[in-house]
Amino acid sequence: MKKSNIALIGFMGTGKTVIGKKVAEKLGKKFIEMDDLIVKKAGKSIPRIFKENGEIYFRELEIQVCKEVSKLENIVISCGGGVVINKINLDYLNQSSIIICLNASPEVIYERIIKEGKQKRPLLDNPDPLKTIIEILEFRNPLYRHATKYHIDTSYLSIDQVVDEVINIYKKAISENT
Ligand code: S3P
Repeated sequence: MKKSNIALIGFMGTGKTVIGKKVAEKLGKKFIEMDDLIVKKAGKSIPRIFKENGEIYFRELEIQVCKEVSKLENIVISCGGGVVINKINLDYLNQSSIIICLNASPEVIYERIIKEGKQKRPLLDNPDPLKTIIEILEFRNPLYRHATKYHIDTSYLSIDQVVDEVINIYKKAISENT
């Protein structure tokens, strides 16, 4: 099957939402924020899901949403940073999407998260988020690396540069796929 979707994965603060929206607009695809679908399903915000139901419940909803979006076509999906934790998510996404991973250094991630407000990210809502970023990245980096062969370091690129790179990768990938 020809893959008409782009799934952006990568740690929090690597630019998945901003980039995904622009890529979708440029390619005439629909943009989907995976976290928004999880919030809709749970009927509460991400911080409240973590606080009241725990991370395991959040991960279960994340799997359900991955399964559902994998059935859609012509979309750009911004995935939650932890989507790589459960391999089944990548299997679902792979069915219909070219998966592209956005990366950034811990310091750049930290700056971006602080700007947006760390309380939106329950995993980083603690007194030393930079330390937590480094620790989580240590565990997750191999997972991001193995999830796809397509990677972009967004640390020192402009939004437009990353958008162009995502579109180039996608076009090249689907031309190799057909
Ligand atoms: C998470 C990333 C968040 C959100 C949740 C957990 C993670 O999404 O799904 O707070 O485990 O990395 P973003 O990467 O869109 O911030």
